[in-house]
This record gives sequence, C-alpha cells and structure tokens, in this order.
Amino acid sequence: MYAYDLKKKYMYNFNSFEELSYVCRTNKWDIALSKDTSVLSTSKPVIKTRKGSVELFCPITVHPMEGFDGLEDGTPSELTKRRWIRFSISGASLVWSEAISVVPEGRTNDHQLMITKENVDEYKQLISEMKKNADIIVIAQLTHSGRMSKNSATKTPLFITRNAEYERVRPNDVNVEVVSDDYLSSLPEKYAQAAKLAVEAGFDGVDVKACHGYLLGESLSAYNREGKYGGSYINRTRLFHECFDAVAAATDGNVIIGSRFGLSDMIKYPYGFGVTKDETPSPDFTEPIKLLKECVEKGLGVVDMTMGSPYFNSYVNRPANLGPYEFTEHPLAGVERLEKSGYEIKKAIPDLCLIGTGYSYLKEQSLYAAAGLLLEKRADCVGFGRMAFAYEGFANDMKNGFMDKNKSCISCGKCTEIMRAGGTTGCPVRDQQIYLPIYRKLCMHKED
Ligand SMILES: Cc1cc2nc3c(=O)[nH]c(=O)nc-3n(C[C@H](O)[C@H](O)[C@H](O)COP(=O)(O)O)c2cc1C
Ligand code: SF4
Repeated sequence: MYAYDLKKKYMYNFNSFEELSYVCRTNKWDIALSKDTSVLSTSKPVIKTRKGSVELFCPITVHPMEGFDGLEDGTPSELTKRRWIRFSISGASLVWSEAISVVPEGRTNDHQLMITKENVDEYKQLISEMKKNADIIVIAQLTHSGRMSKNSATKTPLFITRNAEYERVRPNDVNVEVVSDDYLSSLPEKYAQAAKLAVEAGFDGVDVKACHGYLLGESLSAYNREGKYGGSYINRTRLFHECFDAVAAATDGNVIIGSRFGLSDMIKYPYGFGVTKDETPSPDFTEPIKLLKECVEKGLGVVDMTMGSPYFNSYVNRPANLGPYEFTEHPLAGVERLEKSGYEIKKAIPDLCLIGTGYSYLKEQSLYAAAGLLLEKRADCVGFGRMAFAYEGFANDMKNGFMDKNKSCISCGKCTEIMRAGGTTGCPVRDQQIYLPIYRKLCMHKED
C-alpha cells in the first residue's frame, strides 16, 4: 500500500502555476504549461468521420470511467444515469462512455454495462437526457474484458495468450487455457451488433477499445500464441482489424469510429505491446503508429490515448499521490511520459484527433497543463477521468480560467480502492453523500 517513497517529498508541493513550473523545470520534466488558458474555450477540435467531420465545441473531454453499477442485464442503473448526466453537464464537449461489454461472458463483473436488443431503449433515453443538457458528442466504449472477465456467465478469465507478467501478479491465471481461434473469430460479429445498437441508442460514435490488458489490447501482444491470431504483427493485429472492420461495416459513415488505445503497455517484451525489448521496457511506438495509420486509412477518427495496465502498472495510466498499488516513479514523470508519448503519435499522424490523458493528478493546476498541451499542439483535446468523478462542472470552470482547489480530485486512489473491493465506484472525497458510505463499508469495514 502507499509504497511511493518520494510521495512525502513531493506531495502537494505545487499549489500555483509558478510552483508547478518550478518543479517541472528543476526536474527537467517536459510538461507544457501555459498561464494563458483561453485555448480551453476557443479551440474547436475536429474529428474526421468516413463521410465528413464533427466539430467539438471545446477541447475538454471526459474519459471513460466505469462505476460497476449496471443492472445484472447490463442496463444503466440510477447511479450510472446520475454519473453520465453529471458528465454531460460538466462543460466537456465529448463524453466517452465507460466500458460496455459486447458479450455476457466478457464482462468484468455482473454489474458491467452491456447493450442488448432488450435494453437499448434504456440507453436511448439516457443519451437523449444527456443531449438535452448540451450539444455533446457521446461515444460508446465497446469491450471484451478478456483476462479480466469474471461474471456469472463464465467463472474463468478468457485469455488470448499466456502472459508471464500478468500471471506473476494474478497467479490463479496460470491454470487457465487460452481461448480458441473459433471463439475469437466469432467476436467481430458481436462488436458489429453492439455498434448497431449503440447507434440506435443515439451514441455519436463507437470505440473499438484496445488497451489496459483487456482482450483486444492483449491480442496486440499475443507474440506467443499459435495460429492466425498470434506471433507476427499481421496475426497479432488481425482481431483488432476484424473488429474494426465489422464495426465500420455495421455503421453509417457519419458515425465516429474511435479507439481507447494503449500506446504502450509498458510491460516487458514479449508480454507487452509497444515496448522495447530491454529488461526494463520503454515505449516503442513503431507498431502502434503502423496500426493506427492503417486504421486511419479505414476511418479511425479519434484516439483517446492511454498507456499501461491498471492491473499491472497502474501508475503509468493514472499518475497519483496515493493508491492501492506500488508506485515506482514520481507521478510527474508519469504525466510527462503520457504527454510525450501522445505527442509522438500526434506528430506521426496529424489527421487523427488525439485526446491527451493523465492530468487529474495535477489537481487544480491541471488547468495550466491542459492549456499548455493544446497550445503546443501535443494533442487536440484533453481528457479527464478522476477529475470528472470528483468535480461537478469541472470543464465549465476550466473554460472560465479557474479551478476550485476544494472541488478538485486529489488523486488519492479511493475510487480505485472501491472498484477493487467490488463496489459501485465514484468519488468518496468530493461526492461524499453517495460514495463515502460505500467506501467506509467496503474499504474500511465500517458501517455508518
Ligand atoms: C474508477 C476508474 C474507472 C475507470 N474505468 C475505465 C473504463 O471503463 N474504460 C477505460 O478505458 N478507462 C477507465 N479508467 C481509466 C480512465 O479513463 C483514465 O485513463 C485514467 O483515470 C487517467 O485519467 P485521469 O488522470 O484524468 O484520471 C478508469 C479509471 C478509474 C480510476
Ligand atoms: S476518490 Fe475522488 S479524489 Fe480520490 S482519486 Fe478518486 S476521484 Fe480523485
């Protein structure tokens, strides 16, 4: 727990733009900062679709943030609706939905969302409520949880490849067989069905998610798998391409196709995608850039970038002050890695709308990092995850050039702790009425 040695030294030691600039400068962390934040209200990023394009009213977006609070049939519950509505009135121009499973056996738990013919009208009502509040774009994150699947439809995880690094931290996985080629070949059709339903429900776009160690993410590092889905670059990217093509074929050309895409797993070769072959892996974007370029040719319009795996190296994906994980680097080094990595993609594929990530750690100073990122054109949009949980209306305040310290996320990891304890998650610090009792019960074992 809280094993981050440098934490005490650095925690909360930047309470102003000047302090954050000083910390970055003295440590040579290349994080773009700008005191002029007007770009947050003036920039209007464009996402290309296959037939045209969509303009966003501002560059601030909400990342996918799962609450694990769906009903057993995958329908959004009252808490899910509350969360999505809050996101829709945050002032952000785009809400990227949380993980929605394309098949029952691919859910992380029985409360993960799933879109079906039976519940599509519930989604329709919710999206229409969200759109009453603002002219937002809503993207459906379609997923199969693969190794992380655990639900009443299947008790064992669904692996695509043996992965010694994951199996080190999840030792029970060692005894599970990898799924068959036939099973994998059946999935593109499921993605297509879910995409059709998402469009019927009113989502503006569909995300073919490939990150964080879930099935399509892990398929990209299936170096050791035999057969048509493993080994070579062409084989490892086959399933992603097949799912992408199925979604494209099932949707009209005006529908946005996006991907929550892991640029580098930061897990050592041959178990991670987008990494060097060194003992301590660094990002190598050769294959990620190749794959993204191939998909941009076919209509990929937007990437909500991410890196790492929350189950293996959570600090890579969500730099934090505290959390139920071991931290091995300063969080600002993590912010820098995410920013520089995104910038490499932006330079290589300028036509792709790129959403940057990892800024909730900067609390209210994220305002200046968001502005710096956009002014230096290191990304087209800036996405927020934990901040969107914590701070109602965060994007409206950002656009007005201000953030309230007392509403900001403090990157304490409590939302993740609830998730790991199997609860319905949100922010027990800033949204106490709902989530503090849940946190106290599940994580502190205290009844109110
Ligand atoms: C509780 C929780 C749930 C999350 N759920 C999802 C999810 O459903 N899909 C996804 O792609 N990322 C998910 N993420 C990752 C976030 O989208 C985001 O990448 C991460 O929190 C870093 O952004 P931030 O620094 O603004 O929080 C989740 C993160 C947290 C803390
Ligand atoms: S619990 Fe709240 S304050 Fe803590 S990291 Fe999560 S969103 Fe941020």
